[in-house]
Amino acid sequence: MRAPMVAANWKMNGSKAICREFLQHFDADGSLDVVLFPPFLYTSILIEGFAERSISVGVQNVSNVSSGAYTGEISAEMAVDSGATYGLVGHSERRNLFGESDGLVAEKFIACQRAGLTPVLCVGESLDERQEGRAESVVAGQIDVILKSVGIKAFANAVIAYEPVWAIGTGETARPDQAQSMHAFIRAFLTKSDATTAKNTRVLYGGSVNANTAAELFAEGDIDGGLVGGASLEFKEFAKICRAISR
Ligand code: 13P
Repeated sequence: MRAPMVAANWKMNGSKAICREFLQHFDADGSLDVVLFPPFLYTSILIEGFAERSISVGVQNVSNVSSGAYTGEISAEMAVDSGATYGLVGHSERRNLFGESDGLVAEKFIACQRAGLTPVLCVGESLDERQEGRAESVVAGQIDVILKSVGIKAFANAVIAYEPVWAIGTGETARPDQAQSMHAFIRAFLTKSDATTAKNTRVLYGGSVNANTAAELFAEGDIDGGLVGGASLEFKEFAKICRAISR
């Protein structure tokens, strides 16, 4: 059985005050995995503050290399050293705004696993790609890059987040049936390599998830939770989204 997961990607938002609000008021009941992805600077505050609660903290980005003269970079090893347990990889904002290629995404995925972080691999098509009927092939290609460089064992300890680019930050959530269809496709694609891994891999949905849309999305059989952006910065809203999945 796949344990449900709800993750918060704060992107370049948040503050010490918001961290304190979460530490004072936010909790999860243990029936699901909750992961917070704050900006790097705030990871330690949350890791230390949530040490006694079953809430994990991850990093939004890692370098593809372990250490050295790379000003401004942070390695997966450092993230583990700080107590982080997950690493986001391949987010469309990193791909599109920072020019991260499929090859670099694969290197970062490998860097996470080498250091002991569980990678959350983000995949998803743009609006043009969907309108051209290429959504599935784009997503399959993004997963295939990892399969080709690591093999199916890559997904024995990884999470996939399907985030259609047209739904991110737009207020336009994918319809539950649309999202379910892509999630089922992703699972079928993994099944071609290994049925057990495909059955056990969690596939989260991301893109304008909020407290009103979460329950319907999470009710779909292949949607194992969510990766939430904007709505994850407000602890009450995020707590409602987490409650929407309790199974
Ligand atoms: P929004 O929930 O703000 O659309 O962001 C989704 C996302 O990109 C999470 O990684």
